[in-house]
Amino acid sequence: MEKLMISGGRPLQGTVTISGAKNSAIALIPAAILAESEVILDNLPLLSDVAVYSEILEELGANVSWEGNQMRIDPTHIISLPMPNGPVKKLRASYYMMGAMLGRFKEAVIGLPGGCNFEPRPIDQHIKGFEALGATVTNEHGAIHLHAKELKGAKIYLDVVSVGATINIMLAATRAKGSTIIENAAKEPEIIDVATLLNSMGASIKGAGTETIRIEGKSELRGCRHSIIPDRIQAGTYMIAAAATRGNVLIDNVIPKHLEALTAKLIEMGVGIEELDESIRVIGKQNYGSIDVKALVYPGFATDLQSPMTSLLTQADGVSVLSDFVYSNRFKHVPELARMGAKIRVEGRSAIIEGHPLNAAKVKATDLRAGAALVIAGLTVSEGITEVTGVEFIDRGYDHLVTNLRELGADVWRQND
Ligand code: EPZ
Repeated sequence: MEKLMISGGRPLQGTVTISGAKNSAIALIPAAILAESEVILDNLPLLSDVAVYSEILEELGANVSWEGNQMRIDPTHIISLPMPNGPVKKLRASYYMMGAMLGRFKEAVIGLPGGCNFEPRPIDQHIKGFEALGATVTNEHGAIHLHAKELKGAKIYLDVVSVGATINIMLAATRAKGSTIIENAAKEPEIIDVATLLNSMGASIKGAGTETIRIEGKSELRGCRHSIIPDRIQAGTYMIAAAATRGNVLIDNVIPKHLEALTAKLIEMGVGIEELDESIRVIGKQNYGSIDVKALVYPGFATDLQSPMTSLLTQADGVSVLSDFVYSNRFKHVPELARMGAKIRVEGRSAIIEGHPLNAAKVKATDLRAGAALVIAGLTVSEGITEVTGVEFIDRGYDHLVTNLRELGADVWRQND
């Protein structure tokens, strides 16, 4: 296994170009099997989750070729195969195969997802949607079995605002007979990105990005070409790292609107921000004020930036409170930050963070965003070397991380653990 070695205390300076959104890519790839001809995806991030998904589609007989940041998926000869085990178990978002295969084949057998383990990740709302569309869904020995004689459009109210359930139901509903309405839908930009791909394939989806999405089912969809939106979470992570190291970094290839909540909080604590059309410059300051942050569903502050933000708030003067109202227990990074001298208390859904300098330590990433938080923390420490194990988690969400940080002047390298 590898670990990241960080000799911090150097302000990040320069430009970093953001890649395509991971949480779009791992929904767009399964969505491609709903088409009867080739789908081309541009601006694909080079991530292990993306590689796993191409493995899954090849297992079903799709012809997948991946050149640089472009993936070509020809699903013409794809067949319906049960996938109780194998690559599907490697990532949580393998659940999108349920909606895609139900849409294409009216059946699917998918092993329960793996992926990040910061807290149990239920899929009851996904199943509620599939059953509303006419599928029977059973859980047999850890694999979800779905089957529908035919899929009929339905009105579905999500009890919980869920990105995954919204996308998964959209996938199946595009091939159902009649119209589907998803109410209380999630509004994340990645949902709009998937709807844009499906509409380019000939689907008829309206309202993606609002709480009500209307889908007219189609009997056939065709291939198309689609460029993936920039990864707002990767962008936000670099923004936070620039602020934490008191650097001056231009984050290029972003959609500033997708980062509004983070930008507002950074400005509130005293970070310098310059917004351009497709980039954001972050100018660090010596002193930051403490603030309160609430992680909410989009367009609120992203829960995926909650742990990186915790590391930045250790650099503020005074006590900040960061609460997560999406996940109740996404604080596994806190004990690791404490090993670096952070003074953080977790009470229920909130972390109370007292501004305090950090010191180098050996720490462990428990999920990809917690890993990013530990890297950011290590970048602020000028004495000693911080060692971060669990790099495989970080590689799931951040391509070219070491290269990008080194180009920004950080002294970071990988080493066999
Ligand atoms: C997506 O996960 C992202 N993953 C997560 O990013 C992100 O944290 C999350 O959305 C919230 O923004 C991908 O897109 C692959 P949810 P997802 O369904 O879809 C509850 C990362 O770091 N819920 O929106 O699984 C759930 O427990 C990852 O890139 C149900 O109760 O999240 C949570 O409390 C981590 N029943 C809340 O809803 C369900 O059926 C939001 O979850 C589904 C979800």
